[in-house]
This record gives sequence, C-alpha cells and structure tokens, in this order.
Amino acid sequence: MDSLKIKGIMVHQYGGPEVLQVETMDRPTPGDKEVLVRVHAAGVLPIEWKIRQGLFKQMRPTTFPYIPGSAIAGVIEEVGAHVTKFRKGQEVFGRSSNGAYAEYIITDVERLAVKLSGISFAEAATISGGATTAWQALFNNGNLHKDQRVLIHGAAGGVGSFAVQLAAWKGAHVIGTCSTANVERVKSLGAAEVIDYTSNRFEDFAEGMDLVLDTVGGETLERSYDVVKKGGMLLSIAGQPSQEKARDLGIRAEFSNALLTSETMEEIAQLMAAGSLKAVIGHTYPLHAASEAQLRSQTGHGQGRIVLEIQPSL
Ligand SMILES: NC(=O)c1ccc[n+]([C@@H]2O[C@H](COP(=O)([O-])OP(=O)(O)OC[C@H]3O[C@@H](n4cnc5c(N)ncnc54)[C@H](OP(=O)(O)O)[C@@H]3O)[C@@H](O)[C@H]2O)c1
Repeated sequence: MDSLKIKGIMVHQYGGPEVLQVETMDRPTPGDKEVLVRVHAAGVLPIEWKIRQGLFKQMRPTTFPYIPGSAIAGVIEEVGAHVTKFRKGQEVFGRSSNGAYAEYIITDVERLAVKLSGISFAEAATISGGATTAWQALFNNGNLHKDQRVLIHGAAGGVGSFAVQLAAWKGAHVIGTCSTANVERVKSLGAAEVIDYTSNRFEDFAEGMDLVLDTVGGETLERSYDVVKKGGMLLSIAGQPSQEKARDLGIRAEFSNALLTSETMEEIAQLMAAGSLKAVIGHTYPLHAASEAQLRSQTGHGQGRIVLEIQPSL
C-alpha cells in the first residue's frame, strides 16, 4: 500500500531562512511508546532560528535533515501499542521530541498534556517554551512569592508576557521592561510599573529587587546584578550569569531552563481556560511561510509568540 503523504518543513543544512524548505514526505508511523499528532499549531521559538543558523553547532551539532520546532498543539491521530495515557481524537499540546513544523509529527508522550476546550490550538502552542519557561524560572528556580518585587526584562516577549502575568497572579509587585510600542500591553498583563527601555535606564527605576528574570541577555543581563537586593536572585534564560559577580554582591545568579511535567502544563492550561492567563500571539503564519515566521522571530521583537497555523493540504 502507498504510504500517506504530508507536508512539512525540512532543513538539510545550516543557513538563512531559505534553508527552511516545504517538502512532501511520508506520514510517519508512531513507535510503541509514541503518538502521531495532527499538528494544528506550532510555536515559533527564537532557539529555532539560532539552531538553523548553526549558532549551537559546536556545543550541540545538528543531525540533518530535520523538521524544526518543538512546541505543538493538535489532535492525536494514532497511538503506539504501549501508550495508555492518550487516545485517538484527544486534543493535546506540549513539547514534541521530533519537530513541530509539519502537518503530522510523531513524538513521545513525556511532555504532552490534554488541551482544554476553552483554549485554541494557537493559544495552546504558546505554552511550551513560553509559559513553561516563565513558570520554571519564577516558581521553581526563583521561588517567587506574594509581595516580592520582581523585574522582568523582555516583558512583551513570548516568555516575558507569561512571566508578567504569572508573577502578578502570585501577588508579586511586577516591573516589566519593553519598548514604547508594548508599554500599554505589558501594563494590561498586570505589571505595576513598566519601563520603556528605549528612553530610560531600568537601573533608575528598579532597585532592591527580590528577583530579576532576564529574557534578553547581553548588556541587559550585565546591568541587572546591581538592581538585585542582597540575598536576592538573578535568573537569565538568555545568557549565563557570572557566579563570581553574584558572589561578590551577595546574590544568587543562575541560568534557567524549562522542562516541565505534563501536570504543570495542565495547571497552566487550566489557568488559561479560566481566563487568569492569556496567550499573547503577535503574528500567525501558514506552514509554507515558516521562513517569514522565523525571520520575524529573528528580529527579537515578535510582540508575543509567533505561531504557525497548520491546515492539512493533501
Ligand atoms: N532557557 C530557556 O529554557 C529558554 C526558553 C525560551 C526562550 N529562551 C531564550 O530567551 C530569549 C527570549 O525568548 P522569547 O521567546 O521570549 O523571545 P521573543 O518572543 O522574541 O521576545 C523577546 C523580547 O525581548 C524584548 N527586548 C529586546 N530587547 C530588549 C531590551 N533591551 N530590554 C527589554 N526587552 C527587550 C522584545 O520586546 P520589544 O519588542 O518591546 O523590544 C521582545 O518582546 C531568547 O533568547 C530565547 O532563545 C530560553
């Protein structure tokens, strides 16, 4: 029997957005512990253009060809013989282990969770690598609690927009940094104070912070140590903080990575379905425009998460 054909984005070599090729391929078959998901939406994360350009090739060489992406939302089409947690027809979201920019993908089920009907596929696709990253940094690594002061750099971004909301939901005093165009949006997400970094230095408005969450890196990270109070914490998801500098100042500083459980992802989805947490989607693109989507991600000013909305073509 001829195998079913699907469309997906395939990358055969490092390079610019032109290496993201739309290709017709065989629909994959899940292994015993995997599921086949019909992908309705895929998050476009900054790490994906960085991998595509070869920025991590020394540290983590890529195996070609590959389907980019990891954040998905879709419907289970087929389950492997040993999968008991999910069944055909269930709407799910989370992190795929085999790419995301395709009409169908197979993935293990470790980091999939059930999507609630109150949230769309596009919204659900913003959770992995967005809300999960914010949650891990604020609550698991940063141990943020009520009435603490937290500064969130990149407060309008795919991670920052969730971090502002989650920190405000926890009852913290949230200060966010963003450019002029995003100030009102960041306020509406729950920031008590917003600093427009294009016209102000955050150091002049934020001091004695219990926690700083840096999603920008570079100079922003370098300038952040001094606004953390003694005993407080600096977390970055975009750069490796200096332990020496942190020790000298009597603060803690860490790089924060996120790999959350299905249970925490479900908790996040419940908050979204209840209206306590909102996905900020800056731009959506169809699958064949994946290169445009990554180009926008590459600007670093995506205004929330960029999402591919994927319709079946064949
Ligand atoms: N460690 C991890 O597990 C992990 C997970 C996810 C992401 N990341 C990394 O974290 C970074 C952010 O990810 P993301 O998905 O949130 O990216 P994003 O959606 O592209 O958002 C980046 C944000 O940074 C803001 N920004 C740029 N320059 C700024 C500055 N000087 N001060 C304050 N804000 C500034 C932009 O806002 P304006 O448009 O207002 O300038 C934009 O909203 C990326 O480097 C990504 O690779 C790491």
